[in-house]
Amino acid sequence: MDGGPKVFPDLKNPFVLVIFGATGDLAHTRLIPGLLSLYNKKMLPDEFYILGFSRREYSEGEFKKSFEELEEKEEWDSFSKHIMYLRGTFEEEKGYQDLIEKLNSIDEKMGTCLTRFFYLATPPKNYSEILDNMVSTKLSDSCGHEGHSPTKVIIEKPFGKDFQHSKALEEKLSGSFAEEQIFRVDHYLGKETVQNILAFRFANSIFEPVWNNKFIDHVQITWAEKEGIGNRGSFFDGVGILRDVVQNHIMQLISAVVMEQPKSFTKEDVREERAKVTGAVKLSDSRAVRGQYEGYLNDANVMPASQTETYTAMKLLVETERFSGVPFYIRAGKNMQRDDISISVVFIQTCHILFKEYGCPEVGNVLTFRIQPNEGISLRVIAKRPGPTLSLGTVGMRFDYKNDFGTVGLDAYEKVLLDIFSGDQTLFTRSDEIQNSWSLLDSVLKEWQNDKNLPVYKGESWGPKEGIELIEKDNRRWL
Ligand code: BG6
Repeated sequence: MDGGPKVFPDLKNPFVLVIFGATGDLAHTRLIPGLLSLYNKKMLPDEFYILGFSRREYSEGEFKKSFEELEEKEEWDSFSKHIMYLRGTFEEEKGYQDLIEKLNSIDEKMGTCLTRFFYLATPPKNYSEILDNMVSTKLSDSCGHEGHSPTKVIIEKPFGKDFQHSKALEEKLSGSFAEEQIFRVDHYLGKETVQNILAFRFANSIFEPVWNNKFIDHVQITWAEKEGIGNRGSFFDGVGILRDVVQNHIMQLISAVVMEQPKSFTKEDVREERAKVTGAVKLSDSRAVRGQYEGYLNDANVMPASQTETYTAMKLLVETERFSGVPFYIRAGKNMQRDDISISVVFIQTCHILFKEYGCPEVGNVLTFRIQPNEGISLRVIAKRPGPTLSLGTVGMRFDYKNDFGTVGLDAYEKVLLDIFSGDQTLFTRSDEIQNSWSLLDSVLKEWQNDKNLPVYKGESWGPKEGIELIEKDNRRWL
């Protein structure tokens, strides 16, 4: 498209990406597949190195072989030449010294100081130790150039396990790295469908005037996964769905719906508006519901009698001028009836004013952002049914990524990786956003700690009855 916007960043500079926890789930299911896909799309520079670091006794060949499922893919052979492996533990300095040596040898070979990206693809409990050792061994200094460090450090949600931990982690990060060096990943921000919420709201003039408490009755956010915890029991148990997805992904979905129009689309302005929202979200008087799916305790990686929740639902309020008084009902669960991650903005029903006797539906206009699957947006409107008498029904207007654009776009991790390599932090969280969401959810965690009642729900259902009652007692219903 001549003269059109630049669609992808031009990554020319060689880099090296060190992945801590390279034998883990994140590296296997997201990072390496994402990198391979970018490579296939010719979006990576000619020269780049991926250096896996983990405790497992692997040779480089064995490490590459562990990505069996990728071997069949186009270009794996040439892509995997960029992959290296180093064995080491997070607690011993030796591994970090080996990394320094390896990285220096790459710099020597390239005849320059490559930008070093350190991706902490480990459980959050390892972050602190890794950061300490990176600093004490000067691995974080990069190329040994004092005062000039092109090092970038990438950490994944959940950032800490509560407000106190996240604050301590933040202090550690900001004590050793400048903000420009820190990438806090919440891959939901990288999803096309989430990015599109802002485009949809602010590039179209028709929704903004009704985007407030005069027109919106309530908002529902459903985050449902059909799968249970799969083989991630050792990560998930003790973490739970609140920390796994509510503290981060769902808060980002709320921000996208609620945030005011940023002054510009720059990193500073977008992050500023997002942070304001997380500070305005409050718990309502209704208690947060939790549940655990039947059979969760049978997982070999789950502690006997574990109290970890696999489902939660709660009612939140957003104290901004625009949204004051509009309830946000959110529910998140594993092993639910189907995959459905969506946001529905339910508008105030006005049909009854004129058409009471003609079959007004209980719920009228609903704008639904289908985050996944079936990515797109639907608008439910009321229409007259064809025929000689007046009778009303609801119909849908639908935008569908696959049909309308022919693609659902980049995978979220591809976008995340591209933005990291090009240094664009717009879609990465700032520490105040994180602390705001922890301070909101800390009280829920405390309440649960003292309450041993954990309802069990049937797998492949919509969760415990308490989650349904939460919204029904307000005379509303999950859509
Ligand atoms: C991760 C959570 O952040 O997101 C997982 O830890 C969840 O529990 C996953 O399954 C969902 O990601 P996506 O991109 O498939 O929606």
